[in-house]
Amino acid sequence: MNAPILLNEQQIRHYLQQIGFNKAIDIHVFSELDSTNRWLKEASLSANLAICCAEKQTQGRGRFNRQWLSPYAENIYFSARWPWHNGLSQLSGLSLVISLALLACLRDQDINELIEIKWPNDLLWKSKKLAGILIEVNPQSIPQIIVGIGLNVNTDTQQQPLTDKPWCSLYEMTGQQFDRNRLIAGLVARCEEYFKQFAIHGFSLFQSAWQQVDFLKGQFVSVDLHGNLLQGIASGVNHLGELLVRDKLDQLHALSAGEASLTR
Ligand code: BTN
Repeated sequence: MNAPILLNEQQIRHYLQQIGFNKAIDIHVFSELDSTNRWLKEASLSANLAICCAEKQTQGRGRFNRQWLSPYAENIYFSARWPWHNGLSQLSGLSLVISLALLACLRDQDINELIEIKWPNDLLWKSKKLAGILIEVNPQSIPQIIVGIGLNVNTDTQQQPLTDKPWCSLYEMTGQQFDRNRLIAGLVARCEEYFKQFAIHGFSLFQSAWQQVDFLKGQFVSVDLHGNLLQGIASGVNHLGELLVRDKLDQLHALSAGEASLTR
């Protein structure tokens, strides 16, 4: 394998300029951090859009407090921070919108393989996890939204120890190595665009696009709801991005949180 191209602020700015992104942005690049989300949540920063990325995370975190494996100089561990002026109740569906922004960024790089999204926001290829998203809120007078994205880019999945869940990388998918600086610039531009649209229109603008890549649609699923198990057919999402599950009594449930797994 070639020596990796390391993360570099000037390179990210160069690619941002190339795609016509000219909004003021603070870019923080680290060779090692515990977690980019944790850092960005606690940093005192200017009012600009801010992003943070690291070559390696020692305590990368996923949803449900799971560990996010973060080996050095292979993948993207990225967080971005925006102020939110609309009231916290209007954040419903944001994580699904960010999963669409991430997918659009991959399409911009001519990655055209069939990638699906498992509710709420996991990107999957051949049922294996390619990327995950963790959204956190800093409750200040103007709340700050921290969007954390872990995208498996150049890891050779043949060489890495197996985890309990199947996962994959862009390298496994395409046989190519990617410049992460270029990908990060693309991510910034797409996330900014989608975030702005979401702030104006909410999830309903994205509902039909999301349903076109819905991995669970029509599948028999089990969802753990704080210890109670709901089983039924996954039936898309509503205008808030909630997962719709039709149970065997034909009742439709709208779920705003939880983890759905396929029932075989
Ligand atoms: C998940 O699928 O459970 C979400 C994973 C999110 C991982 C990213 S990596 C960058 C950012 N920093 C973290 O500690 N977590 C997110």
